[in-house]
Amino acid sequence: MAIVEHFHPTDPAGAGFRAAVQARISGFLDEREPELASIGVELDLPLELARVFTGGGKRIRPAFCYWGRVAAGGAPEDPEPLVTAAASLDVLHVSALMHDDVMDSSDTRRGVPAAHLQFEQLHRERTGRGLPEAFGRAGAILLGDLLLVWSEQMLARSGLDPVRLDRARPWVEAMRTEVTCGQFLDVIAQSAPATATLAEALTTANRVVEYKTNRYTVQRPLQFGAALGGADEQLQGHLAAFASPIGRAFQFRDDLLGIFGDEELTGKPAGDDLREGKRTVLVAHALANAPAGQAAELDAMLGDATLGADQVQRGREIITASGAKETVEATIDAAHEQAMAALERAEVTEGGRVALTALAEACVRRDH
Ligand code: IPE
Ligand code: IPE
Ligand code: MG
Ligand code: MG
Repeated sequence: MAIVEHFHPTDPAGAGFRAAVQARISGFLDEREPELASIGVELDLPLELARVFTGGGKRIRPAFCYWGRVAAGGAPEDPEPLVTAAASLDVLHVSALMHDDVMDSSDTRRGVPAAHLQFEQLHRERTGRGLPEAFGRAGAILLGDLLLVWSEQMLARSGLDPVRLDRARPWVEAMRTEVTCGQFLDVIAQSAPATATLAEALTTANRVVEYKTNRYTVQRPLQFGAALGGADEQLQGHLAAFASPIGRAFQFRDDLLGIFGDEELTGKPAGDDLREGKRTVLVAHALANAPAGQAAELDAMLGDATLGADQVQRGREIITASGAKETVEATIDAAHEQAMAALERAEVTEGGRVALTALAEACVRRDH
């Protein structure tokens, strides 16, 4: 199949790979159209938004899955089923993002109004009865559910050998459970009173990061792909040792981008992490190391949805002056080194090694 010619281990989530993932998802949604139309014409609305929100993103999870397969078992002769299975992880991802934006009251996702706001706007335009906000949330919750169900359907119908898929399935099952539980840990952490010590704050934040981000974004997609390639327990262990620091560093970079990033590139408003009151590792270091007055000022900003650009800028200054930004950069570098040392120990194919090295780099050094 020609598509695989566009996949290069030196550019493992490059334009060719992303286009192939996109094509699988679009094709899958096309197939859903008659089914939804037969239920009701109104369902063109969620289907349209499903297309909008599945039409972008870095495709990191599919990439770890695809190259995990290559790392463990070489490139498959027919890549189609693997690409479809890998793409199904991004359908799951869009489901999680849609629900996340409702929970976080986030206005923007991938540079466009979040799904709940788009449903809300549609309600306004159609001058329906009831509250537009409630309609918007209901729409996003239901479309998120639909995408979750569809991700499983897409995987089951990917065309992968059923015996292999059955063997690899526990890694995807773990991914789904872990991201949901990680999100739960996150909302609990956000609603708890500030912890007394830096060590406690870091323990809490790191636990959230492990499940909400690493397991979901790097480790499980990689292990799922590797299992499809026939990885044994020892290789899975080495891949986990590589993945975990990269998954953490991915989130630490996200934390920096959430406050200092260029929103044109991230597609999410800079400062939203402060408005949402995210208890990130970055914020934990800043609260612990800023002078008491500034720490109190920053603490008061956390969770204040009305913060304006000037206040966000003040928050940035406090975080930078506290040394937290440098500390997190150093943590990212150390995690990256640790991951590369673990990859050295793993017995993987040459293509897999090149791709995983490039993906690790893309996770830790990125501007979006
Ligand atoms: C965002 O994931 C949510 C996190 C777990 C940090 P991504 O940064 O992979 O988002 P997209 O898919 O590229 O939009
Ligand atoms: C990541 O949570 C979302 C998922 C795990 C699905 P966040 O709330 O930290 O990420 P962003 O900043 O909204 O992308
Ligand atoms: Mg969020
Ligand atoms: Mg969230």
